[in-house]
Amino acid sequence: MEHFAVVKSLVRVALAQGDDTVRHQVERLAAALEKADDKDAAALTRMLRSESATKTLTPSRLTKSSAGERMRRGVRVPVDRETSAPLATVVFPDENVATRPVFPADFAASVDGLRMEWENHERLADAGMRPALSCLIYGPPGTGKTSLALWLARDLGLPAVVARLDGLISSFLGTTARNLGALFDFAQRYECVLILDEFDAIAKLRDDPNEVGEIKRVVNTLLQNIDTRADTGITIGITNHHALLDPAVWRRFEVQLATPLPTALERLEIAKASMKDLTTEAKFVAWISEGYSGSELITLVDRYRKRSILAERTTAPVTTISPLAASTTARDGATKPRIRLDETSLMQALATSTDIRFQQSEIAFLTGVSTKTVSRRVSEFAEGNHIHAE
Ligand SMILES: Nc1ncnc2c1ncn2[C@@H]1O[C@H](COP(=O)(O)OP(=O)(O)OP(=O)(O)O)[C@@H](O)[C@H]1O
Ligand SMILES: [Mg+2]
Repeated sequence: MEHFAVVKSLVRVALAQGDDTVRHQVERLAAALEKADDKDAAALTRMLRSESATKTLTPSRLTKSSAGERMRRGVRVPVDRETSAPLATVVFPDENVATRPVFPADFAASVDGLRMEWENHERLADAGMRPALSCLIYGPPGTGKTSLALWLARDLGLPAVVARLDGLISSFLGTTARNLGALFDFAQRYECVLILDEFDAIAKLRDDPNEVGEIKRVVNTLLQNIDTRADTGITIGITNHHALLDPAVWRRFEVQLATPLPTALERLEIAKASMKDLTTEAKFVAWISEGYSGSELITLVDRYRKRSILAERTTAPVTTISPLAASTTARDGATKPRIRLDETSLMQALATSTDIRFQQSEIAFLTGVSTKTVSRRVSEFAEGNHIHAE
């Protein structure tokens, strides 16, 4: 059929409206083409079939759906029958303030791959495929897992249904299983992103030596629900303790994203974003915070900003930042050699740093001495090293 590519695009847009009259006309066209023995008839039939089978997702980023209902404000979130505690909190796109966390390029590419599947679900449906319906985000504390899940929901223009594990998990395992069922039923019904944050709390129930059978039932309920989640949206499981997860749980998730600690490049981007007018200080903060999570880095930045607002007289940034950095992170065991440098070694380390590069004028500003002094100290140190090496 001539110009069939255009016809196909028109049909795709029209079918996405979910209008029965439109559908009927497309069916007529498909039948007519089939009668004329046109090879394009099959493509139309496929589109009709996949449209009704997958019931595609809707705007803003997704196209109109006939499967999931659009969630409205004031929607009744399921509650625990005994305690009336809500099983989830809903964050609507217009009140979702999550920003895209900063990640290394390869990680960001995996995230974009997932977004692309959802944005192009129609094209996938044409080929008889569907986007990934479940995703596991795991990684060290404070590396942006929750932020990423919320931002994905916002980016796709879907409400985030964030499970409340406090309400969900009951001391009665039967109730926990029922609550999980109710939560997933709710998520199936609407177009949404279902977020099971710190969901290892459920998987961990297996550790309880009592009632092993019952616990299995709860975990199985979780697995079955993940398996049968309709494509009204994606289910995102989040955990810090991926080692605790049962391999069966692990396998359930179609996409797995391991959030890394930020490298110098990402730390610099995060620090600069929240210290806009303090570029040199941001560089130093990024430099000294090697081994920090994004969350620890933000805490350090906030503490420094407060100090600089409240400081009566200006002190050299390193004099403020270094002790703050030393006391910001609660995680022990991590070596933070840059924090413990004395003044001369610090100058030398900054002058020879390769992950983040400093001009001598920047080192002078940070340490509160003249550029001349920095230059002298640095060359003395180089000479000393040279003599030492001989
Ligand atoms: N990669 C990142 N880019 C930008 N900001 C980040 C990043 N990682 C963490 N943050 C900052 O840290 C804060 C906490 O991050 P978030 O709660 O998303 O981490 P998490 O991995 O879910 O932590 P937890 O394991 O404690 O639940 C965020 O509000 C954000 O400001
Ligand atoms: Mg979190």
